[in-house]
Amino acid sequence: MLRTAILGLGHYLPERVVTNDDLAKMFTTSDEWIQQRTGIVTRRYVDGDVGVSDLAVPAAQRAVEAAGLKMSDIEFIIFATLSPDYQFPGSACLLQDKLGLPGIGALDVRNQCTGFLYGLSIADAFVKTGMYKRILLVGAEVHSSALEFSDRGRDVTVLFGDGAAATVFGPTDEDRGILSTHLHADGRYAKDLWIEIPASCYQPRMTKEHMDEGRHYPRMNGRKVFKMAVETMPQVVHEALAANGLTINDVDLLVPHQANLRINEFVGRELGLPPEKVYHNIQRYGNTTAASIPLALNEAIQEGRAKKGDIIVLAAFGSGFTWASSVLKL
Ligand code: COA
Repeated sequence: MLRTAILGLGHYLPERVVTNDDLAKMFTTSDEWIQQRTGIVTRRYVDGDVGVSDLAVPAAQRAVEAAGLKMSDIEFIIFATLSPDYQFPGSACLLQDKLGLPGIGALDVRNQCTGFLYGLSIADAFVKTGMYKRILLVGAEVHSSALEFSDRGRDVTVLFGDGAAATVFGPTDEDRGILSTHLHADGRYAKDLWIEIPASCYQPRMTKEHMDEGRHYPRMNGRKVFKMAVETMPQVVHEALAANGLTINDVDLLVPHQANLRINEFVGRELGLPPEKVYHNIQRYGNTTAASIPLALNEAIQEGRAKKGDIIVLAAFGSGFTWASSVLKL
């Protein structure tokens, strides 16, 4: 049976390391508060005018190299991000140009923390139907240019970091690859985690008053996000296991979206997974949204925590609200 396999992974993080103490110099917070509530110790920020498509270039190059391919082998680009370089055109088009691939299709996915899993499901469908054989999926974010470094925005600001990660997908007839994807959304919660402005439903889309009110910064109902994440992530993992006739004992590693260490520890316990079977790197990078799952998966492989033949479960929850899972055999 033809399946879609991960042929290569790569990631790129900007060099600037920002500690909790660095943030505590800009607004009222503390290393203790941030670590206790979120597990985050450091995050990375870009320096100067760097967009997500810039961060994506080295991540894509590393993924293509890891796949043993040339950049010119890539037939289609999917770019998952909530922080596109510009309002339009999409960052996939900008990346396509920067990678020197004029003419190939380029698609942006706007599904926030589940963007990588939504993108993976599209790549899987395209590969399985024979439409493309070599698809580059990138998840990348530059959050630091849209965070509010003041007490008003501190609940959100401490959580997020910049970064990029990429995956090359292609067909395989070996016993490995993507076994399933499950995608969900509930738009009733759209305003519980969002950036409102600029908004096409307002005339004009953005005013000085909007900016004075901070409506161009991310806003979050943290408690609701936490509650829904710990409910839906175990559900969507059970859904994935049932669809594949697997039990939790078959899982070698859960690689969850890295939003909050406490959420992921709770999800692991709820599923009955021992701590060593749940991967975390949020301590170093914060929440890198669409980049977080491929970044975590790549580091898990590099550290020997995920190996060829392992059953890996990916799961995410985020703005929308959206939630999703995928089961892979590496
Ligand atoms: N530093 C210090 N104090 C902070 C703070 C910060 N960065 N952010 C908020 N606080 C304060 C609040 O103002 C509040 O003070 P008060 O009691 O005087 O009103 C207090 O800390 C508690 O705030 P609360 O919002 O109740 O904290 P919490 O226990 O819910 O933790 C989060 C806040 C954000 C850590 C938590 O809700 C969370 O992780 N939610 C999920 C967020 C997430 O994962 N988002 C991305 C999803 S993809």
